[in-house]
Amino acid sequence: MHAPRVLSGMRPTGRLHLGHYHGVLRNWVALQEDYPCLFFVADWHALTTAYDQPQVIQESIWDMLVDWLAAGVDPERAILFIQSHVLEHAELHLLMSMSTPLGWLERVPTYKDQQEKLAHKDLSTYGFLGYPLLMSADILIYRADKVPVGEDQLPHVEVTRELARRFNHLYGREPGFEDKARVAVKKLGGKKGKLFESLRARFQQDGDAEALAEARALVEECPSLSGEDRERLWGYAEGTGKTILVEPEALLTEACRMPGLDGQKMSKSYGNTIFLREDPDSITKKIRTMQTDPARVRRTDPGDPEKCPVWQFHLIYSSETTRSWVTEGCRSAGIGCLECKQPVLDAVLVEQDAMRARAQPYLDQPSRLREVMEVGCERARALARETMVEVREAMGLAYR
Ligand code: TRP
Ligand code: SF4
Repeated sequence: MHAPRVLSGMRPTGRLHLGHYHGVLRNWVALQEDYPCLFFVADWHALTTAYDQPQVIQESIWDMLVDWLAAGVDPERAILFIQSHVLEHAELHLLMSMSTPLGWLERVPTYKDQQEKLAHKDLSTYGFLGYPLLMSADILIYRADKVPVGEDQLPHVEVTRELARRFNHLYGREPGFEDKARVAVKKLGGKKGKLFESLRARFQQDGDAEALAEARALVEECPSLSGEDRERLWGYAEGTGKTILVEPEALLTEACRMPGLDGQKMSKSYGNTIFLREDPDSITKKIRTMQTDPARVRRTDPGDPEKCPVWQFHLIYSSETTRSWVTEGCRSAGIGCLECKQPVLDAVLVEQDAMRARAQPYLDQPSRLREVMEVGCERARALARETMVEVREAMGLAYR
């Protein structure tokens, strides 16, 4: 057993903007305070849809990492790495592909959705179909317990759980599993052992999830059990096998609707973004000219913050006091829009200053970034290797 481990990845698709910061990175920064975290650049994932434009990946990978560091992702706390630098992901992906039912992949909602959305691309590829499996391998290889993702990625975490269960069921049956499990039941003690057996029966016969949870708690509370026995008993109760791959749980990232300059979702394709580490003059210009409530044609026309993208920025950046000043001043035409934008502008610039300061050492000395990533990749590899030793053994691939 280890402390709950968090893992998440991001595709290198270009420069990051405030939407990424408030939607994803701020969450990562908070998580690294509470958990051991792994964050990685999903460069192979980017290839599943952009196999014909590998240069975009190459160009954006280092910039994206500097943006992560600028946002406060801390290589002293979290393990940062690049997916393609840990080849073990590919091995686990391959090994799991042997037993992954095609239907499970075809039924992942993003499969058809993305093919329709990206109709200009031919996504009838093996790699694209296998993308959720690759994501499963990313997660399972680190035995990650918690996976922060947006809503669109939830089905992928769900399929990961199913694949982990299937793997444990197929390969977690070490020779003599049942006998070993029964011996472990005895170690619980007579009374608890009996209780465990009845809980196990209740789960397996009636699908009683509470009974399973109780059985798990019973095992957890027994300090004299070895880690191996504990995993055996969990598998035995569930009817799977020894836990080789750990089922992860999705940590749904609250949809932070960071609006763009025009009130739509902030996105590069809408041209409504403020980039991380963008030039202050350019940010100033963008905010000064951003849309407001169209009802305020003249300075004397009252407005409605609910109809104004600037208000959405206040919701992210401003205090309660400033917000009441805005609602009051907007509705009564007591303040002008430029005036109203000033506190937002100030807050964005302060936030950006802090980001630039954190990024500067890596820009001054690009080798530092390479070193940080080298260390991160090495640490990730060590964890991935541990899992693969067990996976190979379980699958009968540990020939000598
Ligand atoms: N599929 C994710 C995305 O497109 C990125 C990703 C790849 C990921 N592997 C992961 C996220 C593992 C979490 C865990 O956004
Ligand atoms: Fe928007 Fe502020 Fe102008 Fe009202 S005063 S319309 S909230 S920018």
